[in-house]
Amino acid sequence: MNREKKAEISRLISEGKWLHVTGSRKNVQNTEYYVVIADLLELDEVRALADFQHHIMTTRWQHCLNVSYYNYRICRLLRLDAVSAARAGLLHDLYHYDTKRYHKGTHTLGHSSYHPMKALENAERIVEMNDRERDMIEKHMWPVTHRRPKYAETYIITLVDKYCAVIEFILPQPARLGRWIRSKTHKA
Ligand SMILES: [Fe+2]
Ligand SMILES: [Fe+2]
Repeated sequence: MNREKKAEISRLISEGKWLHVTGSRKNVQNTEYYVVIADLLELDEVRALADFQHHIMTTRWQHCLNVSYYNYRICRLLRLDAVSAARAGLLHDLYHYDTKRYHKGTHTLGHSSYHPMKALENAERIVEMNDRERDMIEKHMWPVTHRRPKYAETYIITLVDKYCAVIEFILPQPARLGRWIRSKTHKA
């Protein structure tokens, strides 16, 4: 991909006209994956995830989209239930509070145990789900939480969630470094 094309895509992404996942410049709106989750993206509760920072470098909305997309791709490759994987992936962190504030408060449950239950409760309120989807949302933190996954798709989401957390943190670093270098160069 040439420089002009990259710049054009970056512009469309910043304007919200190009839906991509971390680690790819493909517009996922042009894929079969998009059809499976398009209705969920319209929901206010899902849109509101864009207001929350997640894993330091991204938003909770982008993280949920990332998990949903990679979950779908892997489950499809393995001939598992890719549709449920995509939908549960998008809803797996459906909670609307600042994680850092939760950590500062006094709670009987740690955040790792609490937020999957909260996400499931919130998701149940806005969409119909099957048992597989519920299991994926409720147990996506396994083995940090102790209840074992019931389905193969749930084991996949536990891995995809961790993979996305890593790429969301690492991939923006070269751009940050470049900005830092440029800011130092301009000052000199
Ligand atoms: Fe989570
Ligand atoms: Fe997550």
